[in-house]
Amino acid sequence: MSSRMTIKKIFSESKVGSKATAAGWVRSVRKNKTFCFIVLNDGSCQDNLQVVINDDVADYEAISSLLTGSAIGVTGEVVESGGKGQSIELQGREVTVYGEADNTYPLQKKGTSLEFLRDNAHLRVRTNLFGAVFRIRHTLAMATHNFFHEQGYYYLNSPIITGHDAEGAGEMFGVSTFHPDKAPRNDKGEVDYTKDYFGTNTHLAVSGQLEAECHAMGLGGVYTFGPTFRSENSNTARHLAEFWMVEPEVAFADLDDVADLASRYIKRLISDALEKNKPELDFLKQWRKWQKIEDGDHQKTLEHVRDSEFKKLTYTEAIEILSKSGEKFEYKPEWGVELQTEHERFLAEKHFNVPVIVTDYPKSCKAFYMKQNVNEEAGKETVRAMDVLVPGVGEIIGGSQREDSLSKLESRIEEMGMDKEVLWWYLDLRKYGSVPHAGFGLGFERAVMYVTGMKNIRDVIAFPRTPKSADF
Ligand code: 4AD
Ligand code: MG
Repeated sequence: MSSRMTIKKIFSESKVGSKATAAGWVRSVRKNKTFCFIVLNDGSCQDNLQVVINDDVADYEAISSLLTGSAIGVTGEVVESGGKGQSIELQGREVTVYGEADNTYPLQKKGTSLEFLRDNAHLRVRTNLFGAVFRIRHTLAMATHNFFHEQGYYYLNSPIITGHDAEGAGEMFGVSTFHPDKAPRNDKGEVDYTKDYFGTNTHLAVSGQLEAECHAMGLGGVYTFGPTFRSENSNTARHLAEFWMVEPEVAFADLDDVADLASRYIKRLISDALEKNKPELDFLKQWRKWQKIEDGDHQKTLEHVRDSEFKKLTYTEAIEILSKSGEKFEYKPEWGVELQTEHERFLAEKHFNVPVIVTDYPKSCKAFYMKQNVNEEAGKETVRAMDVLVPGVGEIIGGSQREDSLSKLESRIEEMGMDKEVLWWYLDLRKYGSVPHAGFGLGFERAVMYVTGMKNIRDVIAFPRTPKSADF
């Protein structure tokens, strides 16, 4: 096995006439009179390796009868390919069968539906489509680490189990060792969490932001990249119950600084994918053609976004544009109400056709920690929030400058009926060396959707968790 080369390496490095060993999964076998062709894929790259086996090779009968999905290793000679579109192929001399697959293997024919593949999420990564998506996902993850590292930010692993609700939206999954029927109760009949494992009511984190703020106040700039959990009952193509978020947090920075950071980060994601995943992006284009899905020259669009400035406007300006647009929206755009997906997509796709950064939302729409703007008309108070909206997806980033005044933050927490006690440590940041700071959260799956052009968030995460579904 030590001599095994990935197919990617064979294509990029092997010379005609050299010896090579490849190992992978059989996509198809085509039998001729005196030889057979095996199409082999090992996931290392988009391209398959064509293997030719002559009938004088040991166990030829068994080898040439292998079915799709079987795993084999082949040692042979790299030769020029007769087939079109391929430079080289492998003339196999020795074949090891690692594991056969029989005719019940679910991924038999081309063009299997996305729904069917979701039901077979344990196998779908063996298709060209999901191979492409997950190699691009990897590129975007590496680009994230490289980008923030190069900018001088430190990678923070924020906790997954927390005792607070960072977004204050109440969309949390509980973490408890109590048996639901036998949980101890206090005098008021409420579950007594003081007797639970952590001695308090705990949940899965909806965000790592509050902890990132703590570390930004010591390290200057940090970013998290981890799983986050939301129990919102949104059965849409853009929501998951478990998703990954990238949350940079920057000390001595305001909203404009992080808006700029956000656009540079998104451009980096795009440029790395364009540079490293051309075969994958080409395949996705081809796949959309087969599926009769509008491609809209996706790669050109990505190049255009990489090279253009993002449009920045305030929420108030956005409402004005939407109101005057003449579009028939399901929800009427109204000052004071959070933008709906249809509004976000209108702005990003139809009106500007580049990513849009909307800033300064009404205070009532946003989380407790956002910096309050001053000198505003009563009832028209706004906060230094931003959402980044991209064509095809809508909101990809949510962020803000943070409230750095202790008194303002305290009164906002009280106003919103939140528990101040739980956040004592967060308030401490405003007591000891408080500084202007800002950050944002990028929904990683939404970024993968954006770059790949996939339309359903369930198709860009390995094993999606959504309402009524936690298989695998
Ligand atoms: O806008 P959100 O809720 O912002 C925060 O959580 C802040 N604490 C971030 C920060 O300032 N550090 O979420 C950020 C992003 C959204 O823009 C969206 O892309 C994604 O996370 N997101 C989801 N992605 C998939 N499924 C869900 N249920 C999501 N909820 C949010
Ligand atoms: Mg948001």
